[in-house]
Amino acid sequence: MHTIDISSLDLHRPVNGQFQIQPLPYDKTMLTPAISGETLSYHHDKHYAGYVNKLNELFDNDEFQTFKGLSLEEIILNAPQSVLTNQAGQILNHELYFEQFLSPDYASEPSSALADAIINQYGSIDSFKSEFENKGVALFGSGWVWLSSDADGTLYITQEKDASNPISKGLRPLLTFDVWEHAYYLDYQNRRASHLDALWSILNWRLINTRYIH
Ligand SMILES: [Fe+2]
Repeated sequence: MHTIDISSLDLHRPVNGQFQIQPLPYDKTMLTPAISGETLSYHHDKHYAGYVNKLNELFDNDEFQTFKGLSLEEIILNAPQSVLTNQAGQILNHELYFEQFLSPDYASEPSSALADAIINQYGSIDSFKSEFENKGVALFGSGWVWLSSDADGTLYITQEKDASNPISKGLRPLLTFDVWEHAYYLDYQNRRASHLDALWSILNWRLINTRYIH
């Protein structure tokens, strides 16, 4: 596997050393029934915003001041595993997650080079979706299932525990489903598989394509 060069990513940088809470790019009711407005209110306004606020507070701590001003990706890759890298990882995971859903220029299927790579490696778009969902369902506890690519464009489906992100494996993050219970429990209770299956209907593949082609 050829690992990516971090400089090829669109780095998530702070403004004057402080990370900003990014607004949702759609109305909170638009993702129903895959994700209800109530779930989005908790998930974005409480959980995600909490990670941003906590990270900004941590920079006041002497042991973390040296990392102030770095991008999320640089913190994740360079800081010792700690509460700091956990907050940075969760902010990056959630920003990549929230922005990948419906938008005015939404596309319901992958296209061009990404579609070719998926079909080459997984046989069909449907078989890719099955494998991706199965890995999300099988992830024990809290975490994320990711589609990523290496520097050659080869695809990988990985399970990332807790706040982990595939950049730590040298991969370019493309698409993710959040399998922490806070992402679906209000709407689907224990039916994680049903929730993951519903997410395909709101996924904006046009954006996923732009993450793949650089
Ligand atoms: Fe989450």
